[in-house]
Amino acid sequence: MCGIVGYTGYREAYPILIKGLHRLEYRGYDSAGVATLGEDGKLKIYKAVGKVVNLEQQAEGNDHSGTLGIAHTRWATHGAPNERNAHPHLSQSGKLTLVHNGIIENAGILRQQLSSKGYTFKSDTDSEVMLQLIEYTREKHKRDLASSVRAALKKIIGAYAIALIDEDSPDTIIVARKSSPLAIGIGENNSEYFIASDASPIAGYTNRIVYLEDDQIAVCRRGEELQIMDFNAMRVEVDAKEIDLDVSMLDKGGFPHFMAREIFDQPAVLRECMRGRLLTAHRRIVLSAVSGHREDLIGARRFIMVSCGTSWHAALIGKQLIEEYCRIPVEVAYASEFRYSNPVVGPGDVVFAISQSGETADTLSAIQLAKERGALIFGIVNAVGSSIARASDTGVYIHVGPEIGVASTKAFTGQTTVFAMLALALGREKGTVDEKTYEAVFSELENIPNKIQSILDRSDEIKAIASAYAGKRNVLYLGRGMNYPVALEGALKLKEISYIHAEGYPAAEMKHGPIALIDEDMPVVFLANSCGQYEKILSNMQEVISRGGDVIAVVTEGDTRVKEIVDKVIEIPDTIDSLVPLLSVIPMQLLAYHIAVAKGLDVDQPRNLAKSVTVE
Ligand code: AGP
Ligand code: GLU
Repeated sequence: MCGIVGYTGYREAYPILIKGLHRLEYRGYDSAGVATLGEDGKLKIYKAVGKVVNLEQQAEGNDHSGTLGIAHTRWATHGAPNERNAHPHLSQSGKLTLVHNGIIENAGILRQQLSSKGYTFKSDTDSEVMLQLIEYTREKHKRDLASSVRAALKKIIGAYAIALIDEDSPDTIIVARKSSPLAIGIGENNSEYFIASDASPIAGYTNRIVYLEDDQIAVCRRGEELQIMDFNAMRVEVDAKEIDLDVSMLDKGGFPHFMAREIFDQPAVLRECMRGRLLTAHRRIVLSAVSGHREDLIGARRFIMVSCGTSWHAALIGKQLIEEYCRIPVEVAYASEFRYSNPVVGPGDVVFAISQSGETADTLSAIQLAKERGALIFGIVNAVGSSIARASDTGVYIHVGPEIGVASTKAFTGQTTVFAMLALALGREKGTVDEKTYEAVFSELENIPNKIQSILDRSDEIKAIASAYAGKRNVLYLGRGMNYPVALEGALKLKEISYIHAEGYPAAEMKHGPIALIDEDMPVVFLANSCGQYEKILSNMQEVISRGGDVIAVVTEGDTRVKEIVDKVIEIPDTIDSLVPLLSVIPMQLLAYHIAVAKGLDVDQPRNLAKSVTVE
């Protein structure tokens, strides 16, 4: 998920690599490392936990000379974020070194196979397994390195961008990709090559860039033409593009803000979240936490969810999914309230901690208390190796990549996706979900990323609506059932980044109080896409309109009844009721984003807020 940099040419590699790592820092990471190959023909490798400056301190005063090198920032998937697991990894012979971004799904079985052939491993990573497989293939078949990489990659299931160097080949970097980005910058007359996860580390050196496609391998040898081939050894024509690189934009993947990038990344990261778990061919959902703790989960007295903010909203959705498909009672608590409430919790309870950062102090304290009282702790966390992940007995990572924008977006859809997979997998084990429902939800989960994309494609329509609301002081958000937590989340997004007061309510509660607020100055966002209670939400909408309220409605594509009474309508694709939040939250995110941009506010770092709240 994080960053790769590489260089081969006539300049000192180290400063280029370190500068490149800094430019990839926005991606977030847990450790970093660099390898250079000096004139003495020996590899020099340095690694450090934490920021790139720690790596620089580590390497300072030591030999890092050489005009060939690779570097990495890691966002751990396999193994804790420590020095041992940091990249570059070194092969058994000490000749090959590799950096890898991504995740190898069959690493466990490959590790066993290689162990039985006498290979030993110095780290817990999937990446080292990949490297040893490449070395094993080379030694067994006595082939050149590029062919060995090709043969080895054919055995690998997963996502990767890799860069590899061989001590005996002091001018070459071999790179390959599948589902993880990789760019190659070509210097004048092929005198040098720059490798990076995105073009930002290459900016300023060359404008000629090749973006490697999936299932391609490239041999970058200084002084020679770039060679690209596919996995069947067929040569691929090199299609270099002249790209004018604006570094500040590139950091954000071409978007003006991290939040925009994170909103638009959702289709891709949700595929990542489901990869290796939603087994398409077998129609099965595999979550190791469910198989590993089957009896504890099935036999639980009840589940209690503790979390804060957006993660608390995701928990409200998780409750509905688990109660529906697993018939286990679920309570949802604010972590901050739970910890001081002398909660009735103990053996037989499973306490879920939902957290993007994995560092939220309130959530961490809540699970510590629950653990002391004998509950099993189940983490649903994004940041691998974080405090909450470590304090949990088991759990599921959401794997949506680092979230930088303070307002959480892709973590919410990631958490919701994990809850849907968990509820289905557990429901099947418990026998509380029938095959037809299981298959319907399973198939729809596969469709969700494309449906989200179709909403994102209409961002400009939402922007046009948003422009009229920048001057408002208050907004009300209403939804029912699965859309009630989405109403809360929509209101939170707006508050956080646009500083407009907003409230989310279950739509039916409106008549018990908030309706007194309705007049022409009170915009009301209705989540009116079909979600089981369509007729009822329509009545609520009529009540607002007849009191002069200004309605923005989210509806299902093809809806005609709402359009007859409301002119600001946002259409989203149809889906099954239990997955509705994954679609209806997207216009909520876009609406808040476009309103905040229209107000000229600092979208990524709104006032008074921090990305992870590590204090009480
Ligand atoms: C979300 O937009 C917020 N910034 C905030 O509510 C956040 O969700 C909350 O602080 C919980 O954080 P966590 O998921 O990292 O535990
Ligand atoms: N899966 C690898 C690891 O855990 C690479 C992670 C990354 O993309 O940084 O080390």
